[in-house]
Amino acid sequence: MTYTVNTSDLSRKFGSFIAVDKINLKISSGEVCGFLGPNGAGKSTAIRMLCGILKPSSGKAEVLGFDVEQDSEKIKPLIGYMSQKFSLYNDLSVRENLDFYAGIYSIPVRERKRRIEKMILLAGIKGEENALVASLSPGIKQRLALGCAIMARPALVFLDEPTSGVSPTARRQFFNIIQELAAGGATVIVSTHFMDEAERCDKIAFFDQGRLLALDSPDQLKKSLAGCLVKLDLPEPFKQIKTLESLSFVKECSFHGLSLHLLLNDSNDIAGLEDITGFKPIRLTPNLEDVFINLLRQQDKEERREL
Ligand SMILES: Nc1ncnc2c1ncn2[C@@H]1O[C@H](COP(=O)(O)OP(=O)(O)OP(=O)(O)O)[C@@H](O)[C@H]1O
Ligand SMILES: [Mg+2]
Repeated sequence: MTYTVNTSDLSRKFGSFIAVDKINLKISSGEVCGFLGPNGAGKSTAIRMLCGILKPSSGKAEVLGFDVEQDSEKIKPLIGYMSQKFSLYNDLSVRENLDFYAGIYSIPVRERKRRIEKMILLAGIKGEENALVASLSPGIKQRLALGCAIMARPALVFLDEPTSGVSPTARRQFFNIIQELAAGGATVIVSTHFMDEAERCDKIAFFDQGRLLALDSPDQLKKSLAGCLVKLDLPEPFKQIKTLESLSFVKECSFHGLSLHLLLNDSNDIAGLEDITGFKPIRLTPNLEDVFINLLRQQDKEERREL
Protein backbone atom coordinates (compact mmCIF):
# COMPACT_ATOMS: atom_id res chain seq x y z
CA MET A 1 0.00 0.00 0.00
CA THR A 2 1.38 3.38 -0.89
CA TYR A 3 0.42 6.27 1.31
CA THR A 4 0.23 9.94 0.41
CA VAL A 5 1.98 10.68 3.69
CA ASN A 6 4.15 8.06 5.33
CA THR A 7 6.56 8.87 8.15
CA SER A 8 8.80 6.68 10.25
CA ASP A 9 10.02 8.01 13.57
CA LEU A 10 9.93 11.54 12.19
CA SER A 11 11.38 13.93 14.79
CA ARG A 12 12.32 17.55 15.18
CA LYS A 13 14.32 19.19 17.90
CA PHE A 14 14.86 22.88 18.59
CA GLY A 15 18.10 22.88 20.57
CA SER A 16 17.55 20.19 23.17
CA PHE A 17 13.73 20.59 23.09
CA ILE A 18 11.88 17.82 21.22
CA ALA A 19 8.96 19.40 19.36
CA VAL A 20 8.07 16.29 17.31
CA ASP A 21 9.00 12.94 18.78
CA LYS A 22 9.25 9.86 16.53
CA ILE A 23 5.87 10.08 14.85
CA ASN A 24 4.63 7.36 12.49
CA LEU A 25 1.89 8.80 10.30
CA LYS A 26 0.16 6.95 7.48
CA ILE A 27 -2.38 8.94 5.47
CA SER A 28 -4.04 7.59 2.33
CA SER A 29 -5.04 9.40 -0.81
CA GLY A 30 -8.41 11.18 -0.61
CA GLU A 31 -8.47 11.20 3.18
CA VAL A 32 -9.18 14.20 5.38
CA CYS A 33 -6.83 13.84 8.32
CA GLY A 34 -7.34 16.12 11.33
CA PHE A 35 -4.33 17.08 13.45
CA LEU A 36 -5.53 17.62 17.01
CA GLY A 37 -3.86 18.18 20.33
CA PRO A 38 -3.13 20.83 22.96
CA ASN A 39 -1.18 24.01 22.18
CA GLY A 40 2.47 23.28 21.55
CA ALA A 41 1.81 19.59 20.83
CA GLY A 42 3.82 19.72 17.59
CA LYS A 43 1.07 19.89 14.95
CA SER A 44 2.43 22.91 13.06
CA THR A 45 6.01 21.66 13.31
CA ALA A 46 4.93 18.31 11.82
CA ILE A 47 3.07 20.13 9.02
CA ARG A 48 6.09 22.29 8.26
CA MET A 49 8.29 19.20 7.94
CA LEU A 50 5.77 17.46 5.68
CA CYS A 51 5.65 20.53 3.42
CA GLY A 52 9.42 20.43 3.07
CA ILE A 53 9.83 23.84 4.75
CA LEU A 54 11.53 22.53 7.88
CA LYS A 55 14.18 19.80 8.00
CA PRO A 56 13.60 16.80 10.26
CA SER A 57 16.22 16.19 12.97
CA SER A 58 15.86 12.43 12.53
CA GLY A 59 13.53 9.85 11.04
CA LYS A 60 11.99 9.90 7.59
CA ALA A 61 8.93 11.21 5.81
CA GLU A 62 7.61 10.44 2.37
CA VAL A 63 5.05 12.80 0.89
CA LEU A 64 3.44 11.95 -2.48
CA GLY A 65 6.22 9.40 -2.95
CA PHE A 66 9.04 11.90 -2.37
CA ASP A 67 11.44 12.13 0.53
CA VAL A 68 10.86 15.43 2.36
CA GLU A 69 14.57 15.99 2.89
CA GLN A 70 16.04 14.99 -0.45
CA ASP A 71 13.16 15.96 -2.73
CA SER A 72 11.61 18.94 -0.96
CA GLU A 73 11.74 21.02 -4.15
CA LYS A 74 9.68 18.36 -5.96
CA ILE A 75 7.08 18.33 -3.20
CA LYS A 76 6.49 22.08 -2.96
CA PRO A 77 4.77 22.54 -6.35
CA LEU A 78 2.46 19.59 -5.66
CA ILE A 79 1.02 20.83 -2.39
CA GLY A 80 -1.17 23.66 -1.19
CA TYR A 81 -0.56 25.29 2.17
CA MET A 82 -2.71 27.69 4.13
CA SER A 83 -1.77 28.88 7.57
CA GLN A 84 -3.79 30.75 10.13
CA LYS A 85 -2.04 33.94 9.11
CA PHE A 86 -2.90 33.57 5.44
CA SER A 87 -1.84 36.41 3.21
CA LEU A 88 -4.32 38.24 1.04
CA TYR A 89 -3.93 41.72 -0.40
CA ASN A 90 -6.44 43.96 1.33
CA ASP A 91 -6.25 46.72 -1.26
CA LEU A 92 -6.92 44.35 -4.18
CA SER A 93 -10.26 42.88 -5.19
CA VAL A 94 -11.19 39.21 -4.88
CA ARG A 95 -10.49 38.58 -8.55
CA GLU A 96 -7.20 40.50 -8.43
CA ASN A 97 -6.03 38.38 -5.51
CA LEU A 98 -6.86 35.17 -7.36
CA ASP A 99 -5.14 36.50 -10.46
CA PHE A 100 -2.06 37.36 -8.41
CA TYR A 101 -1.83 33.81 -7.01
CA ALA A 102 -2.45 32.32 -10.47
CA GLY A 103 0.71 34.17 -11.48
CA ILE A 104 2.67 32.89 -8.45
CA TYR A 105 1.69 29.32 -9.32
CA SER A 106 2.60 29.91 -12.98
CA ILE A 107 -0.81 28.88 -14.26
CA PRO A 108 -0.75 29.33 -18.05
CA VAL A 109 -2.41 32.60 -19.05
CA ARG A 110 -4.98 30.90 -21.35
CA GLU A 111 -6.13 28.75 -18.43
CA ARG A 112 -6.28 31.46 -15.80
CA LYS A 113 -9.73 32.81 -16.40
CA ARG A 114 -11.33 29.37 -16.22
CA ARG A 115 -9.35 28.38 -13.14
CA ILE A 116 -10.21 31.61 -11.33
CA GLU A 117 -13.92 31.08 -12.09
CA LYS A 118 -13.64 27.57 -10.66
CA MET A 119 -12.06 28.86 -7.46
CA ILE A 120 -14.77 31.51 -7.12
CA LEU A 121 -17.43 28.79 -7.36
CA LEU A 122 -15.63 26.36 -5.07
CA ALA A 123 -15.10 29.04 -2.44
CA GLY A 124 -18.74 30.14 -2.71
CA ILE A 125 -17.80 33.79 -3.31
CA LYS A 126 -19.70 34.42 -6.54
CA GLY A 127 -20.96 38.00 -6.59
CA GLU A 128 -17.98 39.20 -4.52
CA GLU A 129 -15.46 39.15 -7.38
CA ASN A 130 -15.02 42.90 -7.52
CA ALA A 131 -15.20 43.62 -3.80
CA LEU A 132 -12.05 44.82 -2.09
CA VAL A 133 -10.70 42.19 0.28
CA ALA A 134 -10.62 44.75 3.10
CA SER A 135 -14.42 44.95 2.96
CA LEU A 136 -15.06 41.18 3.24
CA SER A 137 -16.19 39.21 6.29
CA PRO A 138 -13.58 36.93 7.95
CA GLY A 139 -15.40 33.85 6.64
CA ILE A 140 -15.29 34.99 3.01
CA LYS A 141 -11.65 36.07 3.34
CA GLN A 142 -10.81 32.65 4.62
CA ARG A 143 -12.54 30.86 1.75
CA LEU A 144 -10.81 33.18 -0.71
CA ALA A 145 -7.46 32.33 0.92
CA LEU A 146 -8.25 28.66 0.44
CA GLY A 147 -9.12 29.30 -3.21
CA CYS A 148 -5.74 31.03 -3.63
CA ALA A 149 -3.88 28.19 -1.89
CA ILE A 150 -5.38 25.48 -4.08
CA MET A 151 -5.27 27.38 -7.36
CA ALA A 152 -2.75 24.90 -8.79
CA ARG A 153 -5.00 21.90 -7.97
CA PRO A 154 -2.61 20.32 -5.47
CA ALA A 155 -2.88 16.60 -4.70
CA LEU A 156 -2.22 17.33 -1.03
CA VAL A 157 -3.47 20.32 0.95
CA PHE A 158 -2.21 21.43 4.37
CA LEU A 159 -4.50 23.70 6.36
CA ASP A 160 -3.03 24.86 9.65
CA GLU A 161 -5.89 26.04 11.87
CA PRO A 162 -7.69 27.64 8.95
CA THR A 163 -10.95 28.17 10.82
CA SER A 164 -9.89 30.00 13.95
CA GLY A 165 -11.46 33.43 14.26
CA VAL A 166 -14.52 32.88 12.06
CA SER A 167 -18.16 32.18 12.89
CA PRO A 168 -19.52 28.64 13.38
CA THR A 169 -21.52 28.93 10.14
CA ALA A 170 -18.43 30.01 8.22
CA ARG A 171 -16.48 27.13 9.76
CA ARG A 172 -19.10 24.65 8.63
CA GLN A 173 -19.10 26.07 5.12
CA PHE A 174 -15.32 25.90 5.03
CA PHE A 175 -15.34 22.26 6.07
CA ASN A 176 -17.87 21.48 3.33
CA ILE A 177 -15.28 22.71 0.85
CA ILE A 178 -12.59 20.56 2.49
CA GLN A 179 -14.77 17.49 2.08
CA GLU A 180 -15.54 18.42 -1.51
CA LEU A 181 -11.80 18.61 -2.24
CA ALA A 182 -11.27 15.16 -0.71
CA ALA A 183 -14.19 13.74 -2.69
CA GLY A 184 -12.40 15.01 -5.78
CA GLY A 185 -9.35 12.94 -4.82
CA ALA A 186 -7.20 15.43 -2.90
CA THR A 187 -5.71 14.49 0.45
CA VAL A 188 -6.26 17.10 3.14
CA ILE A 189 -4.40 17.58 6.41
CA VAL A 190 -6.11 20.09 8.65
CA SER A 191 -5.17 21.11 12.17
CA THR A 192 -7.98 22.25 14.41
CA HIS A 193 -9.06 22.68 18.00
CA PHE A 194 -12.76 22.23 17.16
CA MET A 195 -14.49 18.95 18.01
CA ASP A 196 -17.22 19.33 15.36
CA GLU A 197 -14.48 19.53 12.73
CA ALA A 198 -12.64 16.55 14.22
CA GLU A 199 -15.85 14.54 13.87
CA ARG A 200 -15.92 15.28 10.15
CA CYS A 201 -12.40 13.95 9.48
CA ASP A 202 -11.80 10.46 8.07
CA LYS A 203 -8.86 10.08 10.38
CA ILE A 204 -7.55 11.90 13.42
CA ALA A 205 -3.92 12.25 14.42
CA PHE A 206 -3.86 13.21 18.09
CA PHE A 207 -0.64 14.86 19.28
CA ASP A 208 0.66 15.68 22.73
CA GLN A 209 4.12 16.94 23.66
CA GLY A 210 5.48 16.01 20.27
CA ARG A 211 4.17 12.47 20.37
CA LEU A 212 1.46 10.93 18.24
CA LEU A 213 -0.88 9.35 20.80
CA ALA A 214 -3.48 8.05 18.34
CA LEU A 215 -4.15 7.74 14.62
CA ASP A 216 -7.58 6.42 13.76
CA SER A 217 -11.08 7.26 12.56
CA PRO A 218 -13.36 9.17 14.98
CA ASP A 219 -15.60 6.08 15.32
CA GLN A 220 -12.73 3.73 16.02
CA LEU A 221 -11.28 6.14 18.57
CA LYS A 222 -14.60 6.26 20.42
CA LYS A 223 -14.92 2.47 20.34
CA SER A 224 -11.40 2.13 21.73
CA LEU A 225 -12.30 3.94 24.94
CA ALA A 226 -12.35 1.00 27.34
CA GLY A 227 -14.79 1.21 30.25
CA CYS A 228 -18.17 2.72 30.96
CA LEU A 229 -18.65 6.46 30.69
CA VAL A 230 -21.20 8.23 32.87
CA LYS A 231 -22.30 11.76 33.61
CA LEU A 232 -22.90 12.78 37.19
CA ASP A 233 -24.50 16.02 38.38
CA LEU A 234 -23.68 16.85 41.97
CA PRO A 235 -24.61 19.95 43.99
CA GLU A 236 -20.98 20.71 44.87
CA PRO A 237 -18.91 18.78 42.35
CA PHE A 238 -15.64 20.63 43.04
CA LYS A 239 -15.62 19.37 46.63
CA GLN A 240 -16.07 15.75 45.61
CA ILE A 241 -13.82 15.27 42.62
CA LYS A 242 -10.79 14.18 44.72
CA THR A 243 -12.82 11.51 46.57
CA LEU A 244 -14.35 10.24 43.35
CA GLU A 245 -10.98 10.04 41.65
CA SER A 246 -9.63 7.90 44.45
CA LEU A 247 -12.33 5.21 44.08
CA SER A 248 -10.85 1.95 42.81
CA PHE A 249 -13.39 1.54 39.98
CA VAL A 250 -13.06 5.11 38.70
CA LYS A 251 -10.49 5.28 35.90
CA GLU A 252 -10.96 8.98 35.24
CA CYS A 253 -12.96 11.97 36.32
CA SER A 254 -13.22 15.29 34.49
CA PHE A 255 -15.42 18.39 34.31
CA HIS A 256 -17.64 19.07 31.30
CA GLY A 257 -19.25 22.34 32.25
CA LEU A 258 -20.49 21.78 35.79
CA SER A 259 -21.19 18.09 35.15
CA LEU A 260 -18.66 15.41 35.93
CA HIS A 261 -17.80 12.73 33.41
CA LEU A 262 -16.49 9.56 35.01
CA LEU A 263 -14.96 6.61 33.24
CA LEU A 264 -15.75 3.50 35.27
CA ASN A 265 -14.20 0.06 34.89
CA ASP A 266 -17.53 -1.35 33.66
CA SER A 267 -21.29 -0.90 33.82
CA ASN A 268 -21.54 -2.87 37.09
CA ASP A 269 -19.87 0.08 38.82
CA ILE A 270 -22.78 2.45 38.09
CA ALA A 271 -24.75 1.15 41.09
CA GLY A 272 -21.67 1.48 43.34
CA LEU A 273 -21.23 5.11 42.30
CA GLU A 274 -24.88 5.87 43.03
CA ASP A 275 -24.57 4.30 46.52
CA ILE A 276 -21.54 6.43 47.36
CA THR A 277 -22.76 9.80 46.02
CA GLY A 278 -26.53 9.45 46.46
CA PHE A 279 -27.03 10.74 42.91
CA LYS A 280 -27.91 8.81 39.80
CA PRO A 281 -25.21 8.62 37.12
CA ILE A 282 -26.40 8.74 33.50
CA ARG A 283 -24.65 6.51 30.99
CA LEU A 284 -23.07 8.37 28.05
CA THR A 285 -21.81 7.44 24.62
CA PRO A 286 -18.25 8.76 24.57
CA ASN A 287 -17.50 11.74 22.35
CA LEU A 288 -14.11 12.69 20.95
CA GLU A 289 -13.34 15.04 23.81
CA ASP A 290 -13.73 12.13 26.24
CA VAL A 291 -11.35 10.10 24.10
CA PHE A 292 -8.76 12.87 24.03
CA ILE A 293 -8.96 13.49 27.77
CA ASN A 294 -8.45 9.77 28.29
CA LEU A 295 -5.42 9.70 26.00
CA LEU A 296 -3.85 12.64 27.84
CA ARG A 297 -4.48 11.10 31.25
CA GLN A 298 -2.99 7.77 30.18
CA GLN A 299 0.07 9.55 28.86
CA ASP A 300 0.36 11.45 32.15
CA LYS A 301 0.19 8.25 34.16
CA GLU A 302 2.83 6.57 32.01
CA GLU A 303 5.16 9.53 32.42
CA ARG A 304 4.74 9.48 36.18
CA ARG A 305 5.50 5.76 36.19
CA GLU A 306 8.69 6.41 34.21
CA LEU A 307 9.94 9.00 36.74
N1 LIG B 1 11.36 27.66 15.51
C1 LIG B 1 11.19 27.22 16.75
N2 LIG B 1 12.16 27.37 17.69
C2 LIG B 1 12.01 26.91 18.95
N3 LIG B 1 10.91 26.25 19.38
C3 LIG B 1 9.91 26.08 18.51
C4 LIG B 1 9.98 26.54 17.15
N4 LIG B 1 8.84 26.21 16.51
C5 LIG B 1 8.07 25.57 17.42
N5 LIG B 1 8.70 25.49 18.61
C6 LIG B 1 8.19 24.85 19.83
O1 LIG B 1 7.79 23.52 19.50
C7 LIG B 1 6.61 23.16 20.20
C8 LIG B 1 5.57 22.70 19.22
O2 LIG B 1 5.09 23.83 18.51
P1 LIG B 1 3.99 23.74 17.38
O3 LIG B 1 3.85 25.11 16.84
O4 LIG B 1 4.36 22.66 16.43
O5 LIG B 1 2.71 23.31 18.21
P2 LIG B 1 1.19 23.24 17.76
O6 LIG B 1 0.71 21.86 18.10
O7 LIG B 1 1.05 23.68 16.37
O8 LIG B 1 0.49 24.25 18.76
P3 LIG B 1 -0.77 25.25 18.52
O9 LIG B 1 -2.00 24.42 18.72
O10 LIG B 1 -0.60 26.26 19.61
O11 LIG B 1 -0.67 25.83 17.15
C9 LIG B 1 6.19 24.39 21.02
O12 LIG B 1 6.66 24.24 22.34
C10 LIG B 1 6.93 25.53 20.32
O13 LIG B 1 7.23 26.55 21.23
MG1 LIG C 1 0.07 25.23 15.44
